[in-house]
Amino acid sequence: MTDKKTLFETITLGNTTLDNLVGVAPMTRISATPEGEVTDQMVSYYTSFARGGFGLIITEGNYIDDMYSQTYFDQSGIIFEEQAQAWKKVVDSVHQAGAKIFMQLQHSGALSQGNRFAQETLAPSAVQPKGEQLAMYLGEGPFPTPREVTKEEIQAVIAGFVHAAKNAKLAGFDGIEIHGANGYLLDGFLTDYTNQRTDEYGGSTKNRVRLSVEVSKAIREAVGKEFTIGIRISQAKVNDYTHKWAGKEQDAAIIFGQLGQAGLDYIHVTEYKAWEPAFDKSGQSLASLAKKYGGVPVIANGHLEDPQKAGEMIENGEADVITLGKGALANHDWVNKVKNGEPLATFKPEEVLRPNAKIKEFEV
Ligand SMILES: Cc1cc2nc3c(=O)[nH]c(=O)nc-3n(C[C@H](O)[C@H](O)[C@H](O)COP(=O)(O)O)c2cc1C
Repeated sequence: MTDKKTLFETITLGNTTLDNLVGVAPMTRISATPEGEVTDQMVSYYTSFARGGFGLIITEGNYIDDMYSQTYFDQSGIIFEEQAQAWKKVVDSVHQAGAKIFMQLQHSGALSQGNRFAQETLAPSAVQPKGEQLAMYLGEGPFPTPREVTKEEIQAVIAGFVHAAKNAKLAGFDGIEIHGANGYLLDGFLTDYTNQRTDEYGGSTKNRVRLSVEVSKAIREAVGKEFTIGIRISQAKVNDYTHKWAGKEQDAAIIFGQLGQAGLDYIHVTEYKAWEPAFDKSGQSLASLAKKYGGVPVIANGHLEDPQKAGEMIENGEADVITLGKGALANHDWVNKVKNGEPLATFKPEEVLRPNAKIKEFEV
């Protein structure tokens, strides 16, 4: 007998009890209708992970308003009644198959590549994003320079997140995850070189994480205690894979410390390799730092498809739950296979994504 924690135990995040500690990471599919409604094909897609044993599924990022939040054409949304009704089919089917499901809520910020509601993009400051639009989501060329968001528009963004969270709750989701990672709006505020504001949302690290904190608190106030709320945080961005927080552990202490007091039930941390030191050659992983300073359960993500690596994150107490992106796409039944000692398939981009997809695009 061993008292080591394994991937196959239960855990309660907020008000949600998971059957095991393995989740599907949020993954944009751009397979909804042009009106942002999920299709029957997506019901099957999400249900197959539940049948394959995953305890938790976090959906792709959904846009939260009919202004500046849509990031890709054919992305799903959660602002209209029809969109919520369509998602309810996914939720019911996933629940019937025995898994829990959280909806990820996303505001594109400067990184929108396709928004049927607006031509321009909004960001903390008018800084043109690094890099090029993502070809796997059918973008090409540089990103446009965004317009600086006004104080009134910041309030509208918060209201959009709240409205979206309430809709997700009505659709029967077990919780929501705020997309605070990968360069989109909230991470744009957090990131020093994209946030050049001189008001209370810019400057110090505490100021730069303020919008994520305000969104989290506003959602908590609106949905009550019984609905699970988390946030996703990263250093890297889809258009800047190697970005690191300049203040290193001091930044981590402020960011996770602030988020830990914002009414959240968990923090989901994503790094290229979840177990590697966050800043220098040695030192703690970002997940461990989130645990150390956040004081709430931590979900870790990043190349954890090897069951041994995934198990070690749990055993070492660096994370409470792990999520898989590419590993889950290659093995919708990763959990069942690992339980039964069956071999796992290797992720092949050409099989599961768009034909022209470049592997570099998945490195966050
Ligand atoms: C096709 C694809 C779509 C993704 N879409 C999202 C998304 O909507 N929201 C998000 O937070 N991360 C997104 N990601 C990042 C994944 O959630 C995950 O962090 C990344 O794939 C690294 O984990 P992995 O090494 O297990 O694949 C996406 C990744 C892929 C491959």
